[in-house]
Amino acid sequence: MSEPLHRSDFPHVVSPPTPLEEGIAAPPPKISFNHVSITLNDRPILKDVSFQVNRGQTLCILGRSGVGKSVTLRILMGFLRPEVGSISVDGTEINLLNEDAMNEMRQHITMVFQNGALFDSLTVFENVAFPLRERGSLDDEQIAQIVNPLLEMVGAEDVRNDLPASLSTGRRRAVAMARALASQPEIVLYDEPTTMVDPLIARRLGDLIQRLKSQLGFTSIVVTHDMRFAERLADLVLFLHEGRAAYFGPLRGFLDSRVEEIRRFLEYDAYVIPVT
Ligand SMILES: Nc1ncnc2c1ncn2[C@@H]1O[C@H](COP(=O)(O)OP(=O)(O)OP(=O)(O)O)[C@@H](O)[C@H]1O
Ligand SMILES: [Mg+2]
Repeated sequence: MSEPLHRSDFPHVVSPPTPLEEGIAAPPPKISFNHVSITLNDRPILKDVSFQVNRGQTLCILGRSGVGKSVTLRILMGFLRPEVGSISVDGTEINLLNEDAMNEMRQHITMVFQNGALFDSLTVFENVAFPLRERGSLDDEQIAQIVNPLLEMVGAEDVRNDLPASLSTGRRRAVAMARALASQPEIVLYDEPTTMVDPLIARRLGDLIQRLKSQLGFTSIVVTHDMRFAERLADLVLFLHEGRAAYFGPLRGFLDSRVEEIRRFLEYDAYVIPVT
């Protein structure tokens, strides 16, 4: 797990932005969510939510269960379409794309689902190889050269021939991360990567996400309930409350906020997570 990551393994990934010279226009945000509202089953879930993430930044989405954190990620992946608002990735408005163009976009933006979402009938190796086989241009040896280091990176090399059903939740999530990375994305969305796993696995997954950010400059959005994890990773925080973005900005401002819902959220967190 401590082997450095090599940028050449991730050719699509570009370096984090360097500070801009005065007078030079800033590049467009990597991800931009503008005044998005969505209603599901007649229930308004997100109401006028806006946020931006620049290249190389990590945004942590926080909030109580059911506030729409996973929905936000699913909108970004194009699995759900909002009634109002626009979403752009690298300056392209994804809500205007047809399904073919959206599939193309999903080569650059990928998601590690809350439940792993692995194919039960495929071995761990074949799960990770799946996005590479779909591409159709790589032979078995080339695929193995990409998949095996990814399995090592996430600590799942010893279960490469096993089926997902035989793995623990933490292992399944690690394999899901390897599969997400196999498609060589620029943006990775993680839905609660460290919940429901033991603290050691949570630490390993957290370390990996941090290395992907610091060594490879991935842009990421991490949905988490784990404030300590957020404190390690977040450049920006989006706090959702009753469908609205109750806070969007730097982590420091969130921790220092005097807004009552935020104080309550942070105090509850301090209560349930013992400080070690
Ligand atoms: N496809 C869907 N159709 C109808 N309702 C949905 C759909 N997906 C989510 N919802 C509803 O939207 C609300 C927000 O769901 P979401 O999964 O985003 O919550 P969350 O913030 O991720 O919660 P948790 O922390 O428990 O994962 C919930 O009430 C959920 O039941
Ligand atoms: Mg969720």
